[in-house]
Amino acid sequence: MENLINDIDILDRNSTEATETVKTSKEENTGKTKKLYIESYGCQMNFADSEIVTAIMKENGYDTTSEFESADVVFLNTCSIREKAEQTVRNRLNHFNAIKKNKPDMTIGVLGCMAERLKEQLLEEEKMVDMVVGPDAYRDLPKLVETAEDGLKAVNTFLSREETYADISPVRLNSNGVSAFISIMRGCDNMCSFCVVPFTRGRERSRDPHSVVAEAQDLFNKGYREVTLLGQNVDSYKWSDEENNKAWLEKKEKKGEEVAVVNFAHLLEMVAKVSPELRVRFSTSHPKDITDEVLHTMKRYENICKYIHLPAQSGNSRVLDLMNRTYSREWYINRVDAIRDILGEECGISSDMIAGFCTETEEEHKDTITLMDYVKYDFSYMFFYSERPGTLAAKKYEDDIPLETKKKRLQEIIDKQQEISLERNKLDLGKVHKVLIEGTSKRSDEQFQGRNTANKVVIFPRQHFKKGDYVNVLVNDCTAATLFGEAQA
Ligand code: SAH
Ligand code: SF4
Ligand code: F3S
Repeated sequence: MENLINDIDILDRNSTEATETVKTSKEENTGKTKKLYIESYGCQMNFADSEIVTAIMKENGYDTTSEFESADVVFLNTCSIREKAEQTVRNRLNHFNAIKKNKPDMTIGVLGCMAERLKEQLLEEEKMVDMVVGPDAYRDLPKLVETAEDGLKAVNTFLSREETYADISPVRLNSNGVSAFISIMRGCDNMCSFCVVPFTRGRERSRDPHSVVAEAQDLFNKGYREVTLLGQNVDSYKWSDEENNKAWLEKKEKKGEEVAVVNFAHLLEMVAKVSPELRVRFSTSHPKDITDEVLHTMKRYENICKYIHLPAQSGNSRVLDLMNRTYSREWYINRVDAIRDILGEECGISSDMIAGFCTETEEEHKDTITLMDYVKYDFSYMFFYSERPGTLAAKKYEDDIPLETKKKRLQEIIDKQQEISLERNKLDLGKVHKVLIEGTSKRSDEQFQGRNTANKVVIFPRQHFKKGDYVNVLVNDCTAATLFGEAQA
């Protein structure tokens, strides 16, 4: 069930969230002697990291290949968010190991969140890989490959408080040449009790805004027309040219001392100013931190897309408290009301929902459904709770909701979302939408596919238009997932 939903996400939404997606490397031949194959799982931040990894490896004599059989080095950039995500990677590693039997020189490395969570275990106990490299240690990759090639233990799972890879220009993989992702921060300082990310990604740190703007400008110059700014909690983005240290900044703030700080609203504005022709998106917004200042900045710039991914997780305040989300249902509703007041009904809102969290009652589950009815999400990523070792919830609460009940509640959430998505999409019928063309539709070469400002996929006959164009499309049909229309001359 979860899988099916995720497949839909991949097809239609260009997810910025955690699905168990696979993205593999592209073929790139610039005459380098060695070949790298990289496969990525998890969230967009992980995919963005794979582009940094590729850049580092390229500097060190590697071209990418899309066929792992011809690779000297195989990397799996992994995700730990749910048990299923890790199982998928284990199956894949078994497959690679079977191939390695006939190709003993091939080096297999596990990167990303599973590497960080399991550390040496995959190498020493399970003997599944030659290298284990956590998300903050990618600069060390070329050296670690050499270590592994010498038959030595190649492990680096050191988590940094500073690393943002700000100076590394990512090699775009799987790109449509129109939209790209830019990481603006790393790590997470929230401690949502269900979540493994703070353990696998370490402390939150923001990236130099000047390097973010430079990357956006460079992408624009290369023909890209949309950037998505990525962070686990973009609203807590904070940078000071004086000293970029969160603890230092907070101390100053507490004392009421003035420091010139770039916050997320400022950063959004800086990126929006690169060009009115460059669309700016962002993900993820945390309900506890999203400010009216951000909403007003969105309103001021036509090119900042009117779409907010605002994961609620649950619609019940007691469950939210157990989840350690640090907001209540009422607070969340207040933020949604602010979005509607400032940006209007057209602004797209999406969510992540977890069904069957520890001790959740049937009534509390119903609160999630009624919240969905209140907000009218255009779209949601929906999961059932999967206990992750080492998290606060795993330590404090019993995972006591039977799998069958979790699945039943998840299905109810999915059914509700389907109903609301269709209802929301029907409101778009008969209206003209400005669409940025991303490429041909997956269903037919005769059709183009793009997105409107609210992040909805719009499909229409291609006519004389081309990828990267903005077109006005009159929408005349829809499903729960997609809008269909006709481009206007
Ligand atoms: N930083 C983002 C979320 C990143 S993880 C935020 O705070 O919203 C993406 C989503 O995966 C989460 O929003 C949550 O819905 C889901 N998720 C995380 N841990 C999970 C778990 N243990 N079981 C089920 N779903 C989980
Ligand atoms: Fe996980 Fe919460 Fe951080 Fe999101 S904000 S990454 S859910 S700990
Ligand atoms: Fe992303 Fe999965 Fe890690 S969601 S941060 S790759 S645990």
